[in-house]
This record gives sequence, C-alpha cells and structure tokens, in this order.
Amino acid sequence: MIALKSAKEIELMRRAGKITAAARAVARDMVKPGVTTQQIDKAVYDFIKSQGATPSFLHYNGYPASVCVSVNDEIIHGIPGKRVLQEGDIVSVDVGAYIGGFHGDCAGTYPCGKVSDEAMDLIRVTQQSFFEGMKFAREGYRLSDISHAIQEYVESHGYSIVREYVGHGIGRNMHEAPEVPNYGKPGHGIRLLRGMTIAVEPMVNAGSAAIRQMPDGWTVKTADGKYAAHYENTILITAEEPELLTDATESLV
Ligand code: MF3
Ligand code: CO
Repeated sequence: MIALKSAKEIELMRRAGKITAAARAVARDMVKPGVTTQQIDKAVYDFIKSQGATPSFLHYNGYPASVCVSVNDEIIHGIPGKRVLQEGDIVSVDVGAYIGGFHGDCAGTYPCGKVSDEAMDLIRVTQQSFFEGMKFAREGYRLSDISHAIQEYVESHGYSIVREYVGHGIGRNMHEAPEVPNYGKPGHGIRLLRGMTIAVEPMVNAGSAAIRQMPDGWTVKTADGKYAAHYENTILITAEEPELLTDATESLV
C-alpha cells in the first residue's frame, strides 16, 4: 500500500523536511579538519531538538546516534565517534527529523578542506545523478524511470551504483513502500501519482559496486577501499516538477 498524502499531511511533511534540510546544513558546516564525528552528532541532535523535533535515526533499530557520518570508503550508516576528520576526507552525512507525525530524510557528501579532484568529481556526479532522476519524478512516469536515469548517469561517468540499499517511501514512517532502487530498466514499477512522498538516495562507489558490512553492525564500506558518496532528498510527486521537501538548494559543491 502506497500512502498518498493529503494537503494537510503535505504541509506537515514540509515542516519535517525543512528541519531535516537545516539539520543537514548544520552537519555540512561542521565538516572541517579537526572536528570529531561525535561533535557533528551532538550539533545535529541539539539542532533538531531546538526545533521541537526528534531525530528520526536515534534508536531506530537500535541505531545509537542522530546522524550517520560516513567517511571516505564508508558508504552509509557510519556511527559517529572519536574519529577526527582530516583535510582531504570526503564526509557523507545522513539525517532525519520527526515532527507532527511525519519524517524527513536527507543526506549529502561534503569535502573536508581541500580534497582530490577525483573525490570532488565523485561528489558532483552523485549529487547530479539525483537531479537526473528528478527529471522523471512526476505523475505519469513509472518508478523505475527515476532508477534508470540515476544508474545511466552514474555508470556513464565510470562509477558504480550500490544495490543492496535503496531509497524508499516516507511519511508517518521513515521507511514506507515503495522501495526506490537506484538502478533498473525504465518503464517498470508503480506509476507515480501526485501526493506520493519518497526519499531518493543514490549511493555511488568510485570503484566496484561491492560492499562490505562492518562488525559494528551498521557501517557499510566499499569492498575495494575506494571512495563512496551519497546524496538524498525527500520529495513530493506532483503533476509537474517534484517538490524537494528537504530542499537546501545546495549549489553543486
Ligand atoms: N537515512 C537512512 C535511510 O535513508 C536511514 C538511516 S538508518 C539509521 O534509510 F538507523 F541510521 F536510522
Ligand atoms: Co533514506
């Protein structure tokens, strides 16, 4: 069952989305040499609480923090801790906020100080792949049209799409139907309808698509040790352009 959101529910999702996007900006602005990943977690927690919201991730399936911070070859679900960010790192932050009965969810990968040209290219391609998907995120297209556009763009730049993790519907729950893969043939899956809210989140590896699960039970790394990047927004399907509910209108970094 895919929930279509009413006008009232969409208003509530906008509120959750705005706080979530602002929390991502808080995390992004802390990506600097010398900062620990747990300092980012504290700042995100404090910000979300200051807005009267609750961090969606905290205690979700036992997850111990308010943000995922995934550095370099870590793809997703890095747990904040004592790690000190270094010049040249690329740092993925993923945040969720819950307020008024609804969730927002978004992520982005940011350079720590000056990073290599290769790392910057991976960040840009990952972010742009989301926007390539957005060209098909409107009523009338099918779900896999988004997936296909993301995959095409990423692979045409010589990078790989992670397959074990996918985007998702979002609303009263952080993860709802449908699943939103970042790969696939076009013209498959459900038909998109206005009022659907989904989180689209390409996870892109510089090298092979293979992943490695860490013993902490959360952190997912690239199997080959090469860089990975992540970009995610919560969006509303309409008859026209999708509305980015976690819009930061971030210029391409
Ligand atoms: N943001 C992730 C997603 O898009 C969820 C993080 S898992 C958590 O599905 F445990 F950290 F919450
Ligand atoms: Co998500």
